[in-house]
Amino acid sequence: MPERHTEFFPEELQNELNDRFYYLKQDVYGVERLFFENAGGSLRLKAAVDAQTKYSAFPDCPERTHNVALDIRNVIDQGTKDIRLFLNAKDGSIASSLTASKLMFEIITTIAAAKSEGNIVTTAIEHPSSFDACQFASEQYQHELRVAAADPASGSIPLSNILDLIDEETVLVSVILTSNITGAMHDIKEYAKVIKAKNPNTLIVVDAVQGAPHGVIDVDDWKVDALNIAPYKMFGNRGVGYAYLSDRLASLPHHRLLATDTDNWNVGSPTPAHFAGFTEIIHYICQIGSYFNDSADRRTLIVEGMTRIHKQEQAILNRFIHGSPEVRGIKDITGVTIHFEEANGVNQDLILALTFENMTCAEAVDEYGKHNTLVYARESSSHYSKRILDAVGLDAIVRVSPIHCHTKKDVDTFLKVTQVIASEAKIQV
Ligand SMILES: Cc1ncc(COP(=O)(O)O)c(C=O)c1O
Repeated sequence: MPERHTEFFPEELQNELNDRFYYLKQDVYGVERLFFENAGGSLRLKAAVDAQTKYSAFPDCPERTHNVALDIRNVIDQGTKDIRLFLNAKDGSIASSLTASKLMFEIITTIAAAKSEGNIVTTAIEHPSSFDACQFASEQYQHELRVAAADPASGSIPLSNILDLIDEETVLVSVILTSNITGAMHDIKEYAKVIKAKNPNTLIVVDAVQGAPHGVIDVDDWKVDALNIAPYKMFGNRGVGYAYLSDRLASLPHHRLLATDTDNWNVGSPTPAHFAGFTEIIHYICQIGSYFNDSADRRTLIVEGMTRIHKQEQAILNRFIHGSPEVRGIKDITGVTIHFEEANGVNQDLILALTFENMTCAEAVDEYGKHNTLVYARESSSHYSKRILDAVGLDAIVRVSPIHCHTKKDVDTFLKVTQVIASEAKIQV
């Protein structure tokens, strides 16, 4: 199994990044805290928020010919180019909507409507936005819904479990890039290749909302038909989701203003501010890339930046698990268990899924809160979590989700707090 990266960003770069985010060290009340809840919505880049605010103030309609209108149109064009570059979308269409979930419903119902009475294959660990869309579309268009089971040890979906369900009647396969609960990452390129080998006509739909801020995405290389992202999970703001659609998918009958192109999925006028914010996210990723790479090519810098972000996050994960000469890692703290990462190895995203002996996950979250550390309990009482937790045989987990701009010091602070919480849990017995 490949080794996890252990090298953190150079200190100079790390210090530079610290200034780039709002509320990295303190909450909105000025209270010091660790924000380890990025899977619920990531820390915001100042530049993305500021650009969004700037363009939100402009009253001008981009569909005019005066100078401000032309400037705004450039912002939309640049934002669209940047979405394409981030995804490496060389063909097809880019769709936007209020949420990533809404896009998922549009995509899945469009595919399901194009040919009824087949089957739809999804997985037990999909986010409800894709799972429920598959269920809804199956009922609406008389498809059989087939659900691939998870491997409880890794919290991932083995490719063979998906393949077993695919036949010549499969109209679509929906698979998540990275689970927002277990942190398991799927090798989508390999999955798509093998799925298409079994059924070349089926369409592959990927939820990349959790995976997008943590690694390189390449729809051209992966050969998938749809993939969605949400900027608020990747250093930007809420209020928009984007998706890539292959030429074949984009041209299926779908909701569209009829005067527009047959592969256009944008219904109504776009929001320039969202595109301005996205361009700032891409500038930021490129700045990280250019710290390591002299290229002037924007896609090359995106790939370099995301690769470096991924390595930094693997180093953070490694320190969480194994600690350092100064602080014990999670594996050596009694009273707490870390799930999935051992079975996943390097295919584990920067998400820790923890449970405590003698303390519920909700209690543990409260205890972390008392130590100014924000984490979240995913519990089966929530519709967002139940099916996924059932699939991996757990009732609840404490989800810990930092991002690349966190430091060794932040990890060590968290480990010390975890030691205190775990020993308090034991004393309560
Ligand atoms: C993996 C994953 N997919 C999809 C979504 C849906 O995003 P939204 O609620 O913004 O539509 C989320 C949100 O938490 C998610 O984590």
